[in-house]
Amino acid sequence: MNERKTLTVNCSGHLEIGGCDALELASEYGTPLYVFDEDYIRRMMSVYSNTIDKEYGGHGIVLYASKAFSCLAIYSIAKSQGIGVDVVSGGELYTALKAGFPAEKIYMHGNNKTAEELEFAVDSNVGTIVVDSALEADRLDELCASRSKKCNVLIRVNPGVEAHTHAYVQTATPDSKFGFSVANGTAEDMAKYILAKENIVLKGFHCHIGSQIFEKQSFVIAAEKMMDFVLQIKQSTGFEAEVLNLGGGFGIYYTDEDPKLKEEDYAEYLKALCETVKRKAWQLNLQLPYLAIEPGRSIVGEAGVTLYTAGAIKTIPGIKTYVAVDGGMFENPRYALYQSKYCVVAAGNMNAPCTQNVTIAGKCCESGDIIAADVPLPEIASGDILAVLSTGAYNYSMASNYNRNFIPQAVLVKDGMADVIIKKQTFEDLIRNDVALERLNSD
Ligand code: LLP
Repeated sequence: MNERKTLTVNCSGHLEIGGCDALELASEYGTPLYVFDEDYIRRMMSVYSNTIDKEYGGHGIVLYASKAFSCLAIYSIAKSQGIGVDVVSGGELYTALKAGFPAEKIYMHGNNKTAEELEFAVDSNVGTIVVDSALEADRLDELCASRSKKCNVLIRVNPGVEAHTHAYVQTATPDSKFGFSVANGTAEDMAKYILAKENIVLKGFHCHIGSQIFEKQSFVIAAEKMMDFVLQIKQSTGFEAEVLNLGGGFGIYYTDEDPKLKEEDYAEYLKALCETVKRKAWQLNLQLPYLAIEPGRSIVGEAGVTLYTAGAIKTIPGIKTYVAVDGGMFENPRYALYQSKYCVVAAGNMNAPCTQNVTIAGKCCESGDIIAADVPLPEIASGDILAVLSTGAYNYSMASNYNRNFIPQAVLVKDGMADVIIKKQTFEDLIRNDVALERLNSD
């Protein structure tokens, strides 16, 4: 169980999150239900911003990577914590702005931002745009010229660090679709290209080596390489980066295969980054860049739990037992995509010993629709409430209406109270954008 007290077991043997009994939440709001612990999210945001204050003299910013979980409430929390956010689409930007998030603290990413997204970003005065193609640099320059504006940009750089994580979430390998490589010279070319533009202002560089990474050394090497690149560009162009954005990627606990990190451990990761940048700046005689980091998963991941009701239970003799739940890959596609592992608990029977290994299946018409394979659980009956832990990141944000299932609602819990932050969908929502074409119904 989580060391940071997001989750506890109450005297009835029920799972509690943010002081709310999971069974009561399930009966009040129905299942599947995403539950987010507000205190946990705020604590993680503070851990990072306090570390930048303490280890880097406050000369930097924490940007919550909102692709991990994007909705109005999370931007409001980030705003009240005084941190920035990273957005990666017009949709995330729209949501952040609708929540009243200050545009100057928004960094916009994306390897193929559309012309409309760039226009939206420029017109909304987004603080910084992270450029990932020459096409984008051209478009941005023209957009700014036509509006007599300037916009701040970073270049997405691929420092060539291979982090130990799933191939789909590695982003700095030589064949990555992201960024410009230091090794093959395209990053330097892009710096020169942008420096020659009149209406976009190069502020510095960005990298992000991947996600669900635990080795501190991978982050440190990336930071070192980025500082070497800052020097390289200073020497070849005279431009010295003011901003260095080192991305996100700190891992979280899903199962016992992952380390269980405490708040201090996340502070240590960031401290190592701060120290590396400071040391390199001193060694290379560079100014200390304004430092940005972009944690997503580590802020919301362990803050989230998904509650399900067990439905059909099917034992294939000698092979396995499936416990089907009322969710599935439409609300958590991570097993289908990455064979991700999760810890599953019987939320109403937390003290019972595990007596069997079962596979938690979803309700979609697809064999790969699994939530968790081969997990230990006590005896389970149809109607029992199951909780899947660490579902706060990349679950809701990657959900879909596959099979025309409803994307579940979400509640934010704090001090024993729950508030709905994402409402239940209805059948009407599912057909909202469908067009009943007359001519198809004429005979
Ligand atoms: N910054 C950039 C530019 C990113 O691309 C990402 C994640 C982050 C920050 C945040 O990384 P985090 O701290 O959350 O690891 N859907 C996958 C994860 C994809 C991550 C994409 N980029 C999953 O479910 O594991």
